Amino acid sequence: MTQADIQVFDTEDQLQQAAAEQIANLLQRTTSQGETRVALAGGSTPRRLYELLSEIKNINWSRVHVYWSDERAVPPDHEECNYRMAYEVLLERVSIPDEQIHRMRGEVPPEDAARQYERVLRETFELEPGQLPQFDLILLGMGADGHTASLFPGTSAVHERERLVVANDDPDLSIPRITLTFPVLNAAAKVMFLVAGQDKAPAVRQVIAGSDGDQPPAAHVRPTNGNLRWLLDREAAKDLK
Ligand code: 6PG
Repeated sequence: MTQADIQVFDTEDQLQQAAAEQIANLLQRTTSQGETRVALAGGSTPRRLYELLSEIKNINWSRVHVYWSDERAVPPDHEECNYRMAYEVLLERVSIPDEQIHRMRGEVPPEDAARQYERVLRETFELEPGQLPQFDLILLGMGADGHTASLFPGTSAVHERERLVVANDDPDLSIPRITLTFPVLNAAAKVMFLVAGQDKAPAVRQVIAGSDGDQPPAAHVRPTNGNLRWLLDREAAKDLK
């Protein structure tokens, strides 16, 4: 596994701008060679990034397939829906074919949605039995507790090593989730974490500089043959040496 590449920016806006440029460059390179498959992060941090991406003109969206790292078990028009946020600020504004937007169906029971999404991955990546989907890029955020996607500390989802997608209906979760599992995250060609804000600083230190002990879920994102990059603002990085 390659070592993580860590980039720290003075402000969150500079982080978002840099992320947009880096992702645009990646998409321009990969779409010049063929289809490109990206899993979007949920939560609030990537909203500005998605807006910025929608304004970059020379991305060939006709060759981009968009997936999600995780989703809340809510309908697609719900305010908590990760798909809805990305659709409103990015996907509705660019020329990506509808059939290349692969939404996790939060409106059906989470276990059904997880199994259905696993079928979507197997079909769209044309996977052989036992093969993992290799995303060109997976975007991730991280919670103050060190969760990523919907792989929350202490939930069974973090231990899943066989399935590609699972439901996480841990009683501590306000809304049940559907999430990609670590095998899929770690099969990616590139994983980019976008983390901003001082509330994330303790988890950032634990994940990036912590000892091997009981590290939070985000520490287990270690792409086997891929590249791992953290984009942090100064507040989130304040506890790093
Ligand atoms: C979600 C995300 C989740 C998110 C972190 C950070 O569905 O909420 O996938 O993992 O990335 O909770 O969220 P913020 O960006 O809102 O801080």
